Amino acid sequence: MTESKSSAQWTRRQFGKAALAMGAAAAIPKWLEGEQTSGAAASVTGANSLRAHAEARGLMYGTAVIPDLLDVDGVAAGATTDRYTQLIQEQANILVAENAMKWHALRPSPTSFDFAQADKLMRFAKLTGQSVRGHNLCWHEGNPEWLNGTATKENARQLLTEHIQTVAGHFRGQLHSWDVVNEAINPSDRLHDGLRKTLWLELIGPDYLELAFRTAAAADPTAKLTYNDYDIELDTWDQTTKRDQVLALVRRFKANGVPIHAVGVQSHLKADAPLPGGGLVKFIRTLRKMGLEVYITEMDVNTRAVEGGPNAQDKAVAKVFGHYPHRVLAEANVPILLTWGITSKHSWLSHSEEPWAKRPDDARQRPLPFDDDLKPTPAFAALRSAIDRAPARKG
Ligand code: XIL
Repeated sequence: MTESKSSAQWTRRQFGKAALAMGAAAAIPKWLEGEQTSGAAASVTGANSLRAHAEARGLMYGTAVIPDLLDVDGVAAGATTDRYTQLIQEQANILVAENAMKWHALRPSPTSFDFAQADKLMRFAKLTGQSVRGHNLCWHEGNPEWLNGTATKENARQLLTEHIQTVAGHFRGQLHSWDVVNEAINPSDRLHDGLRKTLWLELIGPDYLELAFRTAAAADPTAKLTYNDYDIELDTWDQTTKRDQVLALVRRFKANGVPIHAVGVQSHLKADAPLPGGGLVKFIRTLRKMGLEVYITEMDVNTRAVEGGPNAQDKAVAKVFGHYPHRVLAEANVPILLTWGITSKHSWLSHSEEPWAKRPDDARQRPLPFDDDLKPTPAFAALRSAIDRAPARKG
């Protein structure tokens, strides 16, 4: 990896101070509160990147990507000048398609598959030596319009099975892991076992979960099969309930010999919410005893409710990045942390018009380690420091 012009410049003093402050008590360093510093510029690329620091600890840091934006030909020619492409290549050692492996992206019609964007990502990752996670094979969202009109009680098993066989089969042997089922628990639906009311549950019944995992295992025996969900991080009543239901689902899987290797904790956190606490750590340790890994799959920090300008947002986000990754990466069965995007420029939170994402002042969110100009935010130093302090894993 080369030092590129894309590298935003931080002063060494900023880094030192940020790392120290985040390291000790996840406090906010003085300079974040407005103090200006000067000194020699430090880079965030090459040996200073999240990728290099993660590799030094035997960890994986990754991000969701938009394959359409990647200059793969440029990378193949060793000559890309595209800053997004450079940033993805230099910072991550594992990637996941933000949308390109979802049903709606892969299934233009009931009888066809379109792997163009997903294959583009695979080609990129091969060139750059990055691992790839698959996301996802079965979800209540991200489905093509035709599915609702086509799926019936008679054909739903076959539709789901064929999709998983074809898609997991297409990438067989090439993926680190698959989010086989995404977000299947939703206590507020008040159904048995906390299962979410979805098309698949309605048409197939609770068996659809097991069917998805068994089909994925047969189609790709080397990918680690993952159950992925959100709002299971905090010790609030709602999230504790949901986390318990996810655990119960995993226990049923294990009792029935369903192949599952990991739980994905999405980690869409909010700057104005309490920080994740002991409940999540207990959950991770329980899964460890059951032989499962835990992946932090989609971390970002929603700044919708943070009052003030960009500095106030950065400070709030750095606080969460100073706390959470350190807490989870301390656990031996948590070897991976991915953020959901790497720059606010492309974050779903910056683009969404949803009330839970849109800021009252209409300013853009700053939820990630890099900002709209692809410059590092204080969250970068906080995350890198958390990686540095994580116990080293065996290669
Ligand atoms: C989101 C993408 O970021 C958006 O671009 C898309 O419009 C909707 O899906 N949980 C998940 C992800 O598992 O797939 C979601 O991604 C974010 C929440």
